[in-house]
Amino acid sequence: MSAAVFEVGGGVALRGRVRVPGDKSISHRALLLAARAEGRSRLTGLSDGDDVVRTAAAIGALGAHVDGRVPETVHVDGGPRWLREPESVVDVGNSATAMRLLAGFVAAFDWLTVLQGDSSVARRPMARVVEPLRRMGAGVDGRQGGTLSPLVVRGGGLAGIDYTPPVPSAQVKSAVLLAGLGAAEETVLREPVLTRMHTEELLSVCGAKVEVTREGHGQVIRLRPSTLSPLALEVPGDPSHAAFWVVAASIVPGSEVVVERVYVGPGRSGFLDVLGRMGAALELQWQDDTTADIVARHSPLVGTEVTGAEVPGVVDEIPVLAVAAAMAEGETRFRDLAELRVKESDRVATVRAELSAVGARVETAGDDLVVTGGTRLRGAAVRSHGDHRVAMAMAVAGLAAEGRTRVEGWDAVATSYPAFAADLGRLR
Ligand code: S3P
Repeated sequence: MSAAVFEVGGGVALRGRVRVPGDKSISHRALLLAARAEGRSRLTGLSDGDDVVRTAAAIGALGAHVDGRVPETVHVDGGPRWLREPESVVDVGNSATAMRLLAGFVAAFDWLTVLQGDSSVARRPMARVVEPLRRMGAGVDGRQGGTLSPLVVRGGGLAGIDYTPPVPSAQVKSAVLLAGLGAAEETVLREPVLTRMHTEELLSVCGAKVEVTREGHGQVIRLRPSTLSPLALEVPGDPSHAAFWVVAASIVPGSEVVVERVYVGPGRSGFLDVLGRMGAALELQWQDDTTADIVARHSPLVGTEVTGAEVPGVVDEIPVLAVAAAMAEGETRFRDLAELRVKESDRVATVRAELSAVGARVETAGDDLVVTGGTRLRGAAVRSHGDHRVAMAMAVAGLAAEGRTRVEGWDAVATSYPAFAADLGRLR
């Protein structure tokens, strides 16, 4: 468990190489597909954050045999021979991703599953997964008419659907596809705007009958009921975590950081485009088609506009991009951030409040966040609001501020990046 408070002084250059935890989104999916696959999967470099540890425990509770500890190699024995109705409530901790994906996973089986999370997950909207799963024939209920967790899922006997999620969401897409694996017919998922593609990509790696066709700015995924073959996967570094070091190196004079083996495939590299437009000095050293070492050096930044269409591709990076904007010349406008209001905290409000506390000029206009750069940041006491990404973004702001910044509620970072403070120590 991380300490509840983290203090950081500003103005010290960051130099060196860092390896961030394995990608959180890929880790959740790799575990779930390994549980579904017939045979033994081998997963290396899974995220060691509590969110993914919860998913590993959840598939164990559903009968998969999980051997080993993250982030070292984990073997998973899965498939019908192992899977069974859980004996007690499945607790996802702080992870709404785990809850939504698991809701889809268990809907495919003729079991009763109760999914529960912490007080933050209890506030996260669940109708977005409950509604399509009910349409497929699952019995799903929760508080307030099934809009809030805990969720109770009575699965089995599913029909395929043709579904367009009402909000661009990789979690909703993934829940429907995981349920679709066990439906009687084809499931069609239409995305007018692309979101991260790990589920469809990993389904294909596992030999599922899945077809993806690009259409306009989005795609159509067709999945037929499938049995899966086991996975052998080395999980690449998490770009959302890399973004903290890339922004830190960009805004602290004298810095040069290499973030190793980062996933920069479709739907996840948008923050590099935004920072590129802002004038960041970035270099990608490609390791394979979707993985690169990212070299970031200090450079003067200018403001930019992040459009609503871009948001799904940078949804988790906006808190730290707002820190970059506070250090840039001119105005940066982040448009249409309604989805950020329903994350671990209302990030439009919490980013505004905490960045303002260190002296940045931040305003909101509806769901837009407007940051006017160029003010000097001064260290202050700030709060995480129980949100790991707000905590780490404010630590990065502290690295560029005069004096010391004290981040209260730092323990939230354990959900995704328990070694953040240790990695920072190695870079300074
Ligand atoms: C995630 C999708 C995104 C993202 C979250 C992880 C995933 O959420 O914000 O941190 O792993 O599918 P939405 O699907 O709600 O946009």
